[in-house]
Amino acid sequence: MITKPKGCHDIYGQEGRKWKYVEEVIDMVMKKYHYDYIRTPIFEATELFHRGVGESSDIVTKETYDFVDRGDRKMTLRPEGTAGVVRSYIENKMYGEPSQPIKLYYNGTMYRYERPQSGRDRELTQFGVEVLGSEDPMVDAEVISIPVNIYKMLGLKQIKVNINSLGDMESRKRYREALIEYFRPHIDELCEDCRNRLEKNPLRILDCKVDCDNELIKNAPTTLDYLNEASKERFDKVTSYLGALGIEHEVNPKIVRGLDYYCHTVFEIEAKVEGFGSQNVLGGGGRYDGLAEQLDGPKTPGMGFASGLGRLILALDKEEIKLPIKEDVDVFIMYVNEDEKLNALYLTQELRMNGFTVETEYLGRGLKGQFKQADRLQSKYLLILNSEDLNENVVTVKNNKTKEEEKIDLDYLIYYLDEHLEEEENLHLGHDGYEYHEDREEDEDEEDE
Ligand code: HAM
Repeated sequence: MITKPKGCHDIYGQEGRKWKYVEEVIDMVMKKYHYDYIRTPIFEATELFHRGVGESSDIVTKETYDFVDRGDRKMTLRPEGTAGVVRSYIENKMYGEPSQPIKLYYNGTMYRYERPQSGRDRELTQFGVEVLGSEDPMVDAEVISIPVNIYKMLGLKQIKVNINSLGDMESRKRYREALIEYFRPHIDELCEDCRNRLEKNPLRILDCKVDCDNELIKNAPTTLDYLNEASKERFDKVTSYLGALGIEHEVNPKIVRGLDYYCHTVFEIEAKVEGFGSQNVLGGGGRYDGLAEQLDGPKTPGMGFASGLGRLILALDKEEIKLPIKEDVDVFIMYVNEDEKLNALYLTQELRMNGFTVETEYLGRGLKGQFKQADRLQSKYLLILNSEDLNENVVTVKNNKTKEEEKIDLDYLIYYLDEHLEEEENLHLGHDGYEYHEDREEDEDEEDE
């Protein structure tokens, strides 16, 4: 038997429905934030990630899926989305578009050759945003608010936002020198990778996965001590804008991020629910004002984040959140003979194209078997076709809950179903139809009491 590659998943059934629901919420929220959808290639020239994500990042040195195509070009399956989006921004001259800044969002698979464990996959799905062309700290706060609001909207409660600033180029340079000075006398206490990182990119030592428990790393100087005045002021603005948005956050100087392109604001959002495991960062991002230039584009400020969908769904499961996923079928169309089947086939399409969720019989089961199947699918209404009725242009419609049935003129069927299903829907929701705050509404009710 051929099995799926390590670190990959088959997502289907209830799990698939959860993924689709979460993706629909993301699309809906991004529409409200007025971000445009972007879809870039899953593979890109290897050089893009070396120059974009950074030669010294773990992602590029150890985790990429590289291949040479049949035309001898070096290609890489994308390990993250930002480099591809910025490449596209430059290649398509989006900087010349009349409406600025450019606000984009994406949702797609990424590939990292990591050691698989719960929450850490080799094929992962990230949704994320990139804002290009504005250096306003308000953009930083807005970008941080997006995953926070999406998580909250889905019902997550146990999350924590950590933010930090790496400062501008000058601050980063001073910090870099301070780190080298601090680590150099202790080089023998570091792992082999970190010894190599010392001169190339000492910031990477701070998020080393091997040395993370090393006291030396824990006591290293922090970025905030090396921010110049302008960077400090900027960071204060970001935190005050977050305050204005009501986004609780903690300034955590340990957040440095594993990719090389960041400056100023960096952030990570953790799942705090018990038993989540070590891979508990649901999403992260930051500002990357030098990246476009590094990829031969015009100097362009940038800010974004990405969040792993798999980890998000794991967090929803751990917090035992039941998503309001609609699985039921509006109508199940039943038939016995070939003439009825032709009518069933036609009606199935007609009702589907008029907005109903419709199922019918595909296995040649008798009526008894079809009633059972309709129950399995939790169909709200049954259409029971028979040739005599069809000759008179009527059909039997049965409410599968009350078991009441009546004969309905086929010309009137759509109106009938529309009316009756809408009544059921209103009964079911019991409010204005806004489903995402079910949990919160209950909380508010409790507070009111
Ligand atoms: P990242 O921190 O490498 O950032 O990844 C973002 C998120 O993707 C993580 O917080 C995690 O939820 C998920 N993730 C990463 N690796 C894995 C994995 N192996 N298995 C499962 N989930 C994973 C970036 O990728 C940046 N491009 C974010 C960004 C956008 N910065 C600016 N703009």
